[in-house]
Amino acid sequence: MIQHLDIPRPDDWHLHLRDGAMLQGILPETARDFARAIIMPNLVPPVVTAEQAAAYRDRILAALPEGADFQPLMTLYLTEDTDPADVAAAAASGLVKAVKLYPAGATTNSHSGVRNFDRVMPVLEKMAEIGLPLCTHGEVTTAEVDIFDREAVFIDTILDPLRRRLPGLRVVMEHITTEEGVAYAAEGGDNLGATITTHHLIINRNHILVGGIKPHYYCLPVAKREKHRLALRRAATSGNPRYFLGTDSAPHIDALKEHACGCAGCFTATNTMPLLAHIFEEEGALDRLSAFASENGPAFYRLPVNQARMQLVRQDAPTTFPEKIETGAGPVTVFNPGFPIHWSVKR
Ligand code: DOR
Ligand code: ZN
Repeated sequence: MIQHLDIPRPDDWHLHLRDGAMLQGILPETARDFARAIIMPNLVPPVVTAEQAAAYRDRILAALPEGADFQPLMTLYLTEDTDPADVAAAAASGLVKAVKLYPAGATTNSHSGVRNFDRVMPVLEKMAEIGLPLCTHGEVTTAEVDIFDREAVFIDTILDPLRRRLPGLRVVMEHITTEEGVAYAAEGGDNLGATITTHHLIINRNHILVGGIKPHYYCLPVAKREKHRLALRRAATSGNPRYFLGTDSAPHIDALKEHACGCAGCFTATNTMPLLAHIFEEEGALDRLSAFASENGPAFYRLPVNQARMQLVRQDAPTTFPEKIETGAGPVTVFNPGFPIHWSVKR
């Protein structure tokens, strides 16, 4: 049995860091294990301009613990007023690595998102020209579409038409949750990638709803049926360069998760790498963890693989993780897989 793994230091290609006291409290959880992360721009108000992204990056860097080896990769929040020249300048300076598309109303703080795609075509055309990826929250928001179907309907009615209209646009399907998402990404060619979260490899919708509602398992896109979770596991552990890790670790304080209208988001920054080692071991794919967590993402983003290394070790005693991270904004519950994990990151 493999007891030890040595991989390039991983990156997180989809992360929510928030701001202020929450940022300060949760940033060390990511910076401990990850060299880089694509930082989601859904603050209140959202990060829309290059100037706002530069200021947010500075706040992140200021919140880093002493000696941390972590680089935030900034994104801009696409609105119908986004200026193509501002995006191009932010990309040329190296500040911004992607633009995020939230269909209006899809999730936390997405009301400034896109309603009419014709209005963002000039930005998307500029992005295609310069090779800047569009990260998509792939769910339609139409009231009549069932929440469990929203990803598949997004692929058919928005993503595929958009990619046909603009084949040069580089797209990341963020946090795919369905076999339809897995299949579409597999066929997409070099201009298409897909991130997969840790929690969608572990939970299906029963985990959220059977035996009492579990607010800490509620996120968007919501976890689907078991067959979809299995498709995600096959994709993540396949080594296929289209798929890479984006945790979508999304902290909310407990008071807002355990609430009559609970917020969406699972907080996995603290224990993602041990959880992934467990999953890849179960799938007989430990030799492909490096592709998923450390190599495929940089290849898509045209960045070097990290020089630093991470060691993961398997031990007989279960690893203990904190139940909560205490932040100045309040406690944040760490994702609990519901089974013992025997892997840990060697410090
Ligand atoms: O579960 C989620 N939480 N999904 C998202 O798309 C947004 C995120 C958040 O910002 O809390
Ligand atoms: Zn997200």
